[in-house]
Amino acid sequence: MSGNRTFTMIKPVAVKNGHIGHILNKITDAGFRIVAMKMTKLCVTRAKAFYGVHNDKPFFEDLVKFMTSGPIVAAILEKENAVEDYRKLIGATNPEKAEEGTIRKEFAISMQENAVHGSDSDENAEMESNFFFSFDERYNQDGFEELG
Ligand code: CMP
Repeated sequence: MSGNRTFTMIKPVAVKNGHIGHILNKITDAGFRIVAMKMTKLCVTRAKAFYGVHNDKPFFEDLVKFMTSGPIVAAILEKENAVEDYRKLIGATNPEKAEEGTIRKEFAISMQENAVHGSDSDENAEMESNFFFSFDERYNQDGFEELG
């Protein structure tokens, strides 16, 4: 992915509260291009797999319950320095610590119900993108499907 792409999810609480459009506006206003996007729902098995790195944490079961409670919007985003810039745009995991103007400051409810997910490294961005999208669901800037 060479540092130009990241993966995001708009989480169930933000979808339920009608914030998909507001969040996507913030993303595109910040200069990200949407390479792939879908609204879908995680089952328990897939939520556990996606958050597998946290399976020993005390909040794991609650996180899985929350992430399977309703639909999410998954997307691959493109911009120079995507992972770092997107993490700046979404703000700290704990919304109380998120800076003014960030997505989490505006739309998160709590540490768990923190509105959006953003990949924390290029490697994870690639893994997480592959978890949700095949190559015929990704489009370059000319609108052509990508070859795997
Ligand atoms: P996310 O960026 O999707 O990555 C892991 C998720 O676990 C995180 O956002 C939060 O939703 C959740 N999380 C992380 N730390 C905590 C915590 N201390 N208590 C509850 N949920 C947490």
